[in-house]
Amino acid sequence: MPRKKEEIRIRPFWYSDIWIFPKLITVITTLDKEGNVNAGPYSHIMQFDVMQKSPRMMVGFRQESHTFQNILATGEFVVNCPSADYLDDMMETARFWPEGVNELEHTRFTMIPSRKVKPPSIDECPQIAECTVDQVIHLEKSSGIIIANIEAIVMDEGLEQMDRSERIPAMNLPVGLGDQSRRYYYHAYTDNVKMHELKEPPGGQKGGKIKMTMKWDDLAVEALMNVPVAVRQMVSERLEEHAQAKGATCVTAQHMVEMSEEYGIDEELFARFRT
Ligand SMILES: Cc1cc2nc3c(=O)[nH]c(=O)nc-3n(C[C@H](O)[C@H](O)[C@H](O)COP(=O)(O)O)c2cc1C
Repeated sequence: MPRKKEEIRIRPFWYSDIWIFPKLITVITTLDKEGNVNAGPYSHIMQFDVMQKSPRMMVGFRQESHTFQNILATGEFVVNCPSADYLDDMMETARFWPEGVNELEHTRFTMIPSRKVKPPSIDECPQIAECTVDQVIHLEKSSGIIIANIEAIVMDEGLEQMDRSERIPAMNLPVGLGDQSRRYYYHAYTDNVKMHELKEPPGGQKGGKIKMTMKWDDLAVEALMNVPVAVRQMVSERLEEHAQAKGATCVTAQHMVEMSEEYGIDEELFARFRT
């Protein structure tokens, strides 16, 4: 029996009031034009470019927020991810403090210098991204989206080497579950984590039908078959675009070598998708 469904009227703040988006909790630090520190929690954040050549994130803001204004003025910000032990401090930075107030002074957070940008980082955050502005998108009157270059990813020592099963409890990052009426904020703890193994279909590494729109020489096809199946279609499309841009009518292994260098598509990337 299908479950009974109903269509919901879409009202302002639908994304928060009715739809549940479990999200990352961050505290973004910025400087205003006079160099005063500002901090506020931000959760509308996700990766924008997954390649290492120009890693980027996108973040959504209310256009009047001090954080958005400071980023427009200075072009820099830091995304700090606090552990769940610091949820109270994170909420303290959400209060509507007047302009020029350093919210961090009302918390247990400690400022430390960042490596590549001027706004400070927060020591108590195991995972930090130092960012500069790549693009700004103003969505009418509602929100502003910043697409940011990641200048540095800084983590507590030792985390990188850990297996995910160890890193999740070591970082203890909370999950944001939104708010009721902009007042009651809900969070979850990552202490009940389940692991699922993604299994290859039979013959998986060999399989994966690839749509090719150009001629490919044998060496290029062989090289493509070494690309993990999860990214093979994407790599083949990029490769055809690359060969066409070079004015070629046939994709060759040389095109793959050139493109690997240009985009950072290398063994390190492929290893990521191998089991
Ligand atoms: C957990 C949490 C997540 C938030 N995420 C966002 C967000 O992604 N975008 C946004 O505009 N406001 C968000 N807010 C609201 C801002 O943090 C709040 O308006 C804050 O006062 C802004 O500070 P600022 O003006 O110093 O930047 C969030 C608040 C909380 C508590």
